[in-house]
Amino acid sequence: MPWNSRHCAKLLVTAGILSVVLGFALSKPLSAQTHENAERSGVEKVSALADPAIEKRVEALLKQMTLEEKVGQLAQYSSGAPTGPSTGNPDYPNMISRGDVGSLFNLDSARAANQYQHLAVEKSRLHIPLLFGLDVIHGFRTTFPVPLALASTWDPFIVEQYARIAAQESSAAGVRWVFSPMVDIARDPRWGRIVEGAGEDPYLGSVMARAYVRGYQGKKLSDKESVAACVKHFVGYGAVEGGRDYNTAEISEHTLREIYLPPFRAAIREGSVSLMSSFNTLNGLPATANPFTLTQILRKEWGFRGLTVSDWTSVGELVPHGIARDKAVAAQKAINAGVDMDMISDSYHENLAELVKHGKVSQARLDEAVRDVLRVKFALGLFEDPFTDESREIQGALPTERVEAARFAAERSFVLLKNSAAGGRPILPLTGESGRIALIGPMGDNAQNMLGPWAGHGRAEDAVTLRAALEKRAGAGKVRYAKGGELQTASDADIQTAVETAQQADVVLLALGEEAAEQSGEAASRAHLDLPGRQEELLEKVTATGKPVVLLLFSGRPLPLPWAFEHVPAIVAAWFPGIQAGPALVRVLFGDVPPSGKLVVSWPRTMGQIPVYYNALNTGRPADGYDLTHPPRNSLEKYVSRYIDEQNTPLFPFGFGLTYSSVEYSQTEVDSAKLSAAALNANLGRDASGGTTQATASATVKNAGNRAVDEVVQLYIRLIGTSMEEPVRKLVGFKRIALAPGESRRVSFPLGADALSLWDIQNNLRVEPSHVQIWISPDSSRGLPAELEIIE
Ligand code: BGC
Repeated sequence: MPWNSRHCAKLLVTAGILSVVLGFALSKPLSAQTHENAERSGVEKVSALADPAIEKRVEALLKQMTLEEKVGQLAQYSSGAPTGPSTGNPDYPNMISRGDVGSLFNLDSARAANQYQHLAVEKSRLHIPLLFGLDVIHGFRTTFPVPLALASTWDPFIVEQYARIAAQESSAAGVRWVFSPMVDIARDPRWGRIVEGAGEDPYLGSVMARAYVRGYQGKKLSDKESVAACVKHFVGYGAVEGGRDYNTAEISEHTLREIYLPPFRAAIREGSVSLMSSFNTLNGLPATANPFTLTQILRKEWGFRGLTVSDWTSVGELVPHGIARDKAVAAQKAINAGVDMDMISDSYHENLAELVKHGKVSQARLDEAVRDVLRVKFALGLFEDPFTDESREIQGALPTERVEAARFAAERSFVLLKNSAAGGRPILPLTGESGRIALIGPMGDNAQNMLGPWAGHGRAEDAVTLRAALEKRAGAGKVRYAKGGELQTASDADIQTAVETAQQADVVLLALGEEAAEQSGEAASRAHLDLPGRQEELLEKVTATGKPVVLLLFSGRPLPLPWAFEHVPAIVAAWFPGIQAGPALVRVLFGDVPPSGKLVVSWPRTMGQIPVYYNALNTGRPADGYDLTHPPRNSLEKYVSRYIDEQNTPLFPFGFGLTYSSVEYSQTEVDSAKLSAAALNANLGRDASGGTTQATASATVKNAGNRAVDEVVQLYIRLIGTSMEEPVRKLVGFKRIALAPGESRRVSFPLGADALSLWDIQNNLRVEPSHVQIWISPDSSRGLPAELEIIE
């Protein structure tokens, strides 16, 4: 792909540094690290699990195993802090020695892993090693920005680098299996776990899913520094009703295939060797007991040969779901649907042997499940070398190169949402002349919260706060800090001191947000997406001083803050940026690097619009062209799909993000007027492997300002006249390019079969005769389309 050479050079320098220090040689040239539009059907990578030598060893071992030993391989327990309701049998040493345990997770050191591993390989009859897992979501010790922020970089190379570093640190602690990536498409910011994914778009989600898998699993799974990925949660968890965690999801098969399944498919095509089933009920059947998704789609259609694990106690939860009267029936339903390993619930351990003896679970199904577990253990090289060299664990400070990589990622993840003029020029970037700076707010000097939820073994002492970085940059004498209270509480005096601090400054940085671990992530759905505690009051009072205010919003989701977006002149979505929060923010605020993140979720104006997402269907009564800023005045304005008291559009659309320059797009052009559906269908699934490009869409993108930019150029299409209704726009490609001041660049995207395909009325992926609209645009809402026809 013709990537911008300067950006490439920059990345190559970073990649070079990282590869020397981390021993990570890039597996592909950079040009292949980004994706255009081959995500819908993609290309299969040779799986680490397709090795005939491994199959032979699996079969030989299986033959020696007793029924109980087989069941043992399918049981997984947590040996550390719970990440769910705590249940399970704590007698691990004896159970492991008997061969009753296949996997343990939540251990905290190589030493602890080795101790358990000695029991497994020395005491158990068949010496089968344990597989150690952990939730490594955005870092083991080197904590990167949260996944939603990583996705906001629109840079799969950054995600891959993150995952490689995470793999190296995890494996050094004995962890060879990470429960990541979470690829659940999420359209509802009430759902706390929106922070763990790549947002609302299946194409972007697929690109990111692949990048995670490449980074975690490396070139060879058996390398000591590689870890098995676990793509989760299968499936529909992101669509829980009302955004309430663990709730029910209702998704048609068409929408499942168009929107929710593609990132899973992409991760598996990239070689993910494991997958986790989800908690939610999908279309009336709990996902952990769903043979349609776990067997029909995953195994039969996609040919997945890896390991499927339940989510935390989700097998046992089939009882409260009401489809199993007891844990025996739960075990029967889960394994027969396709779940190989029971995380925590003990349902397999207690019941599976009996179920097999009574023919409720077939010997063949049991053997399949055991094969899936053993295959991954062999592929990881655990039988050759089950132990971890304890000297590999990081002692003391983090290596500089990892810290730099975390900063590089954070800098590119911030989304500049608003930057109005104050005193004749936009407030940002700050300059040497910005004067006295007041840093206000409970996030300004809050190391723990910079890590975000699911921070694993991340440490607050590794995190550099905004206050620390700002004082270093501007000089302690120029910065005054007032906390303004805690995240959830504040006294009148706290607020008063903050206001006084603001009054004495020339510019105010207001660092506010939601509490990372309590208000974002799992079991943190919120029905009120406002600023917690008295932060809104703090915001209003500080803004009322009339000083130029920059709001830095730390959150795991978009927060619709109507007052702030109307009155505060500059706003940055900072997400939870990780250990380099402060230095990364300071570099962007002072313009050392341009803001370049773009939204991966639509930013609602108000709670009542949720779910609001860009790739929606048009309806039969679209409200386009109507002025929705006031209530309907006549029946024409009334009987369209709208709210009578709010606009339809989000405050900021998917793909949106400002920078310090202005970027202009020419009209999109396409080099063919007509394409043949038959010719396209002959190439379906081959775009990434050199399937013939059928047309090329191009536009000229110009940096019309006087500061350098990194611009994420996006390619969208709409198909009209298809057998199923297609979204008003869908993303099918993007490129991140660097533009010097005044520079123009012609940006082209191939349009092939994969981009132009849809899941048709029979639920087949194919290209249909249709009218195609094509936009190359800075976000999902702007531009005028080019057009082409797909004929029979
Ligand atoms: C979460 C999973 C996680 C598991 C193990 C569950 O509560 O839903 O995402 O991997 O716990 O910690």
